[in-house]
Amino acid sequence: MVSRVIPVDPFDLVLFGATGDLARRKILPALFHRFQIGQFSSDCRIIGTSRSELTAEEFRNQTADAIREFGQEVETTPKEIASFTALLDYAAVDARGDAGWDEIRGKLRDDAVRAFYLSVGPSLFTDIARRLSETGIATSESRIVLEKPFGHDLASAQALNAALREHFEEQQIYRIDHYLGKETVQNLMALRFANSLFEPLWNSSHIDHVQITVAESIGVEGRGEYYDKSGAMRDMVQNHLMQLLCLTAMEPPAQFTPNSVRDEKVKVIEALRPVPQASIARGQYRSRNSAQQGDGYRDHAGNAASRTESYIALKVEVANWRWAGTPFYLRTGKRLRGRVSEIAVYFRDPPHNIFEGSGTVHGNVLVIRLQPDEGITLKTTIKDPGPGGMRLTGANLDMTFADELAESGRPQDAYERLIMDVIRGNQTLFMRGDEVEAAWAWADPIIAGWQDSGDTPQPYDSGSAGPDDSLLLIHRDGRRWRSIGE
Ligand code: BG6
Repeated sequence: MVSRVIPVDPFDLVLFGATGDLARRKILPALFHRFQIGQFSSDCRIIGTSRSELTAEEFRNQTADAIREFGQEVETTPKEIASFTALLDYAAVDARGDAGWDEIRGKLRDDAVRAFYLSVGPSLFTDIARRLSETGIATSESRIVLEKPFGHDLASAQALNAALREHFEEQQIYRIDHYLGKETVQNLMALRFANSLFEPLWNSSHIDHVQITVAESIGVEGRGEYYDKSGAMRDMVQNHLMQLLCLTAMEPPAQFTPNSVRDEKVKVIEALRPVPQASIARGQYRSRNSAQQGDGYRDHAGNAASRTESYIALKVEVANWRWAGTPFYLRTGKRLRGRVSEIAVYFRDPPHNIFEGSGTVHGNVLVIRLQPDEGITLKTTIKDPGPGGMRLTGANLDMTFADELAESGRPQDAYERLIMDVIRGNQTLFMRGDEVEAAWAWADPIIAGWQDSGDTPQPYDSGSAGPDDSLLLIHRDGRRWRSIGE
């Protein structure tokens, strides 16, 4: 299946933090791949900025290195990289001072889409937004793109939103949650709302429970200092898992327009019940054995007394007509047995088994895999093939998107899709301010609950499936987690 590439309008994209990690690993390679595939019209420009005094040539060379190191595994010629880097320019800017802003202004055109991508620490968001507006560099048509974290609690998220809205309208603000750019996440919407098969069953009468898992095999690596102030709840649940929950649970929007979709997501968040501490399991990874001493979370965080969770599981209830009685179990953690992100929808068992003695009939399970092997699987029960008696066995109806994407060579990285949506002016896959605030309003009391009680996360071995408490959380409801990485 070869996708049709529709070129975007000419743009000037100003990338703040252009020499930083995210820009090098994700943003610049993503832009390169969209260029390579033919999505840029001839007149697109990317202006890198950071504090470093670099020439445009040095920035082009650094970008070429980043593409070679972090670009996707597709055939790439030096000529393609050179044609792409010819679109790049650079200006050193002092985000909190006066230096560099005039230079940026001089590089921008009046007749191109103007986008400012803030790939910088959140402490600089409002300073840069203010400068962009006060210097007149940002027009009423310009777009500003921000990366999480959007605050660390409700109050700070409200303050950030208010500060941004002093200079930009909500329809100019693109808050990235890169999970929304993943192929399968969008496919979840297509599956639910472009097919009539599932939607009639998509409710508590037919669905027993839902499991949402984002398991990582890596630890906090070099990000220990940031992560220790954040933890899995703030780093993953409040945003990525919340988005997956919303897309699974939301009502069909009237149209596939940014505000219709986001209105429905906000309603889901507002319907979430407060989560009691008994419905939460927190964990912290430790070295697997004595040979690996010094390789646990506390070592990585540089905080021997840390009470931050690197794993969390929660039982969440959506208190509305569709979902009352169907729990959503959420879990995410680092240094787990494997890397798996998926949504598993467990349908109820058939009401009556006519095959007594031939095997058990189980409810169907629909698994939407985000990574690895993006795809959708429906677990069914069939007759064990061959002659002989009637015996039942499990079989999967499997759809792996990698096969579908084979001709176009590779799945698209989330950033490719999201950055092009910024240029197209489509906010559907970006978080609206009220959505972020609603998610914090739900998360804050949960975090306060364990902070107030002085709770310490339960240790779990690196490479395991998480802390024992997370098993109890679901076992006591007579259910089991799907296995991770087996
Ligand atoms: C980021 C988190 O937002 O998402 C990281 O800050 C996490 O801690 C990452 O590792 C996971 O993203 P992905 O796309 O690799 O699942």
